[in-house]
Amino acid sequence: MDPIKYITVEHGPIQLMLKILGKMNEKIANQEPIEKKDLDDGIIFIREFADACHHGKEETLLFPAMKKNNIKKEVELIDILIEEHKQGRGYVKNLVEAIAKIKSDPTAFRQLFADNSQKYIALLSQHIEKENKILFQEAKSSLSESAIKELAEGFTDVEENKIGLSRIKELHDMVNKLKEAYL
Ligand SMILES: [Fe+2]
Ligand SMILES: [Fe+2]
Repeated sequence: MDPIKYITVEHGPIQLMLKILGKMNEKIANQEPIEKKDLDDGIIFIREFADACHHGKEETLLFPAMKKNNIKKEVELIDILIEEHKQGRGYVKNLVEAIAKIKSDPTAFRQLFADNSQKYIALLSQHIEKENKILFQEAKSSLSESAIKELAEGFTDVEENKIGLSRIKELHDMVNKLKEAYL
């Protein structure tokens, strides 16, 4: 496994979820009916795949490995990326609060959902661009062969022992099902 290629490819399903979230928001803004379960599944995918599995590997393995080299421009960019992960978690928390109001306060639901989904989509879209175009390119040139090997082992450990391969498959199935319904 080439861990840099692997983590780049993982952005694909996350970008797919951002597109789905945009469509969900369009429907909600137009006051079209929407299944609460679909919104819940979207949140599950974002929290378990985009955040725990993907951002988890970046924060616990890739970023620390790169920081060890102590290259100033890389360290500065990594600190920004970590802040963006945190900011994203805040928007997702607000989305969960919005969804909880779907029946009791539909106006608040629509407003909160629109505001936080738009912010989340904008944040993550530019975040992924920065990683793909800058940080991951830097990783390819600055990480040693042994660091790359360690990274690959660490990624496998997170997936097999922390998230679980069968859960990861379920999460991919979840986003693909939402894709069929919304895109
Ligand atoms: Fe990231
Ligand atoms: Fe990423």
